[in-house]
Amino acid sequence: MREPFALVIFRTNVATLAAMSNANGHSTPVVCVRDVYKRFPAGESEVTILKGVSLDIYPGEFVAIVGPSGNGKSTLLNMITGIDHPSEGQVIVTGQSVHTMSENELAVWRGAHLGIIFQFFQLLPALSLLKNVMLPMDLVNQRPRRERAERAMALLGMVGLADQAHKLPSQVSGGQQQRAAIARALANDPPLLVADEPTGNLDSTTAEEVFQLFLRLVAGGKTMVMVTHSRSLAARGSRVIEIRDGRIASDSGREAVESGQLALLSSPVGQ
Ligand SMILES: Nc1ncnc2c1ncn2[C@@H]1O[C@H](COP(=O)(O)OP(=O)(O)O)[C@@H](O)[C@H]1O
Ligand SMILES: [Mg+2]
Repeated sequence: MREPFALVIFRTNVATLAAMSNANGHSTPVVCVRDVYKRFPAGESEVTILKGVSLDIYPGEFVAIVGPSGNGKSTLLNMITGIDHPSEGQVIVTGQSVHTMSENELAVWRGAHLGIIFQFFQLLPALSLLKNVMLPMDLVNQRPRRERAERAMALLGMVGLADQAHKLPSQVSGGQQQRAAIARALANDPPLLVADEPTGNLDSTTAEEVFQLFLRLVAGGKTMVMVTHSRSLAARGSRVIEIRDGRIASDSGREAVESGQLALLSSPVGQ
């Protein structure tokens, strides 16, 4: 089932180059964050966690977000997914202004456009892996019922879990639960995957397997935004953004654009 590693690398590089040339202004960003501030109440006053964050993420990018704990990484992801709203600024994702949508609109939009992957998997414990993967399809209600089970089974097959489909989450390993959660995130074939420390609760071998799966998904056309503590995993994405004290401290994508590498890298491809 798995593609040869060299092919994966080749396709990932093509996706990376495509994304980088897009960053040159040829395409619409999948994620557009503009001047976002996030303040939380703290006793009598408030604390500012995001302090003017702006970034664009283009189709086919694999963006790793790194930075010390408590510096606003999850808060930033929550702005992108609409799990929380900015105090100031704009967030446009897959063309929708996330910061202005109601909870109902957000639920419908998320179901179709977004796959979210968490550190602790968040599978429903009383449902089989298969039923967990079917759930987003049931919520969106776009496919006939009989197709949902077939698609869920195919997705579980893709993540190597066809033979575990009828087990409960508690009956499989952490790595298997995370792979099922990835299958669930793919249920409605969303263009964008957002993962918050998806390998943070896995041993290094299992983390590597999950990361390989992400590489394959990006090679297949998905856009990925992943918060990680692992600098070595982050370096294998197409772009690393470092958040420090609520600000973007560095952005390898922006540096590539600014240093003119883009034109060099993207010109010979596809000719
Ligand atoms: N709902 C909230 N209310 C108050 N403070 C919060 C809330 N959510 C996050 N914070 C604070 O914001 C800071 C950044 O949190 P977070 O974005 O989770 O950091 P990271 O993901 O980088 O570890 C932390 O100090 C955290 O306590
Ligand atoms: Mg966090």
